[in-house]
Amino acid sequence: MNWLESLECVGRVTSTNDVLRERARAGAPEGTALIAEAQSAGRGREGRSWLSPPGNLFLSVLLRPALEPEALSALPLLAGVAVAEASASFGVTARLKWPNDVMVGERKLGGVLIEAAFSGTCVDFVVVGIGLNLTAQAGKITEELRDVATSLRAETGRSVAALEAARAILSRLGVWYDRLAGEGAASVLGAWRSASVPWWGERVEVISSGTRVEGTARGIDESGALLLLKDDGVTLRVLCGDARAVRRVSG
Ligand code: BTN
Repeated sequence: MNWLESLECVGRVTSTNDVLRERARAGAPEGTALIAEAQSAGRGREGRSWLSPPGNLFLSVLLRPALEPEALSALPLLAGVAVAEASASFGVTARLKWPNDVMVGERKLGGVLIEAAFSGTCVDFVVVGIGLNLTAQAGKITEELRDVATSLRAETGRSVAALEAARAILSRLGVWYDRLAGEGAASVLGAWRSASVPWWGERVEVISSGTRVEGTARGIDESGALLLLKDDGVTLRVLCGDARAVRRVSG
């Protein structure tokens, strides 16, 4: 799938995901992709806001997946893999923290917000929203995010333009989307495991559906769900859409 041709650049919008959702409802085809210079109401996972000043990448892509429902749950992980690979092409080794945080060490380089619309039980469309920090942000934002965020520029000293970053991501996204359709989720999940943070066997806490659960992270299953071995010996499957926060804990 080649989505580079339908990439459009716009100025400031509320959220590229919102713009693309409207276009999807108006009949826009699969592969419609949009980057914005800035967002006034950028959204992160779980209702969090996503600070979106000019200089970083705010990208959304429209999918109309003719996939089995099981394959759909691989989409968030697939997007993370594409972002990690694109980052590698700019010289940054990023690791993926389940479900789809793109990390360099303990700092966040980017994130993925997947939003789907259904007609009955069928998926009508999916908007894949990707935020990638390209440059250190100015003023107060830098103070707030210094310890938790990083950027391609901070990691390499090199400036990457949003268009260049979007092209790199879209080209990897297309490759993995074709593979998902052709081969099923196993290859995507394999790539995700290879790029994941090395947390397996370690203690983590998960806030899921309003509840905090602690246990040992065992890996992901064949649908992309996180497997958490609780202290009572029961293994919990945490679905991507249910997880609010996943953190490593000591002891
Ligand atoms: C997260 O890690 O919480 C996900 C962040 C996703 C941010 C991107 S920026 C482009 C798209 N538009 C939005 O409003 N959000 C996503």
